Amino acid sequence: MNATQRAQAVRPERAERRPPAGDAGRPGASGERVSPDSQPDLAKLLNVDEMEAVAKAKLPIGSYAYVASGAGAEVTMRANRTAFGRWVFRPRVLVNVKDRDLSTTVLGTKVSMPVLIAPYALQCLLDPEGEVATARAAGAAGTVMALSMGSTRTIEDVGAAATGPLWFQPYLFDDLGIVRDAVARAEAARYASICLTCDSPALGYREAQTRWPHQLPEGVGWANMPLEGGRPRWLSGASWTWETLDAVRRTTKLPIVLKGILTAEDAALAVEHGAAAIVVSNHGGRQLDGSIASLDALPEIVDAVGGRMEVLLDGGIRRGTDVLTALALGARAVLIGRAAAWGLAVAGQAGVERVLELLRDELSTSMAIVGARSLADVTREHVARTAA
Ligand code: FNR
Ligand code: LAC
Repeated sequence: MNATQRAQAVRPERAERRPPAGDAGRPGASGERVSPDSQPDLAKLLNVDEMEAVAKAKLPIGSYAYVASGAGAEVTMRANRTAFGRWVFRPRVLVNVKDRDLSTTVLGTKVSMPVLIAPYALQCLLDPEGEVATARAAGAAGTVMALSMGSTRTIEDVGAAATGPLWFQPYLFDDLGIVRDAVARAEAARYASICLTCDSPALGYREAQTRWPHQLPEGVGWANMPLEGGRPRWLSGASWTWETLDAVRRTTKLPIVLKGILTAEDAALAVEHGAAAIVVSNHGGRQLDGSIASLDALPEIVDAVGGRMEVLLDGGIRRGTDVLTALALGARAVLIGRAAAWGLAVAGQAGVERVLELLRDELSTSMAIVGARSLADVTREHVARTAA
């Protein structure tokens, strides 16, 4: 019996209502014994898929579905993964890779590895400490955490608890005063940059979230959102244009990261409008089903940007080899959403640290074998596109 089957045997009433498994639902191959309430031995979880299998067994169905699902038929969510399979490595041998360095800078901030934590909402669905636990894990690993305005802990709480650099991701509101206030709070709490997510003038069409609605635990709510009749007034920024971005940029000294860019045209506009970086992203396949996989969009965007700003990528990162592929295609660093979420669900801060450790270890090993001693050594010559 595998981990998921064991958990289902214990909780049949939950198992029946469990959403169908995508990439998501693959049970761990580790043979790790999982009961929904026990603390698994993190050292025995050897990859993110195994972490997800344990998270799935532990979480209420609505919480699992909130994280695991995508928009529409989830074609883009799956494409984010399969895109990596179309690239193979071209390893170079007899390169001195004895002392490897995985560190880099992102917007001038030193990070110990090119893997950051993406902004994602409602982390107290997964762990009582929520975003605070994630921030501490990112700090312990020497990397950046981006805090979503849809968080369950306040901007200030996370700022005070963090041991490493933070970005703040406000939602776009038609009422610019809300955005300016949130940005001012983030500045006061010493966040390092503002990450504007541009791909959500409307919330994606998410069937799984309607089918298996999530329920926030008692006492947990939207910590930073303006409420309207008790519900968050979010994603109301459908009127935003590049000029709105200019107006917001003028109100802050912090660098602006634009998240959700998928075309060379918009990347060029981002440079023109003063963005310091972009995240090539389709929101983990949660917004427009049928959009291009983020990895597929990366090469043309890197070419169009031509080094004029930093280009990051998120979507489908599950392994150190995925990170290496993205770097070879020109990303300066990547962000992880669901991978971090599964770690958080399994064991809070320690679980997120474990996920980052797994990615770091696999990236370091893979760099050695591909023949790269530092991230600067990783180039497009290290990958080739396959016919498949
Ligand atoms: C997200 N994402 C997201 N993005 C954002 O800018 N603000 C947000 O509040 C959220 N919320 C959110 C919730 C959950 C549960 C997920 C899974 C994702 C998108 C996120 O930042 C990132 O783009 C994707 O998660 C990257 O894809 P992977 O790593 O999940 O495949
Ligand atoms: C999501 C929103 C909140 O992806 O960005 O769930």
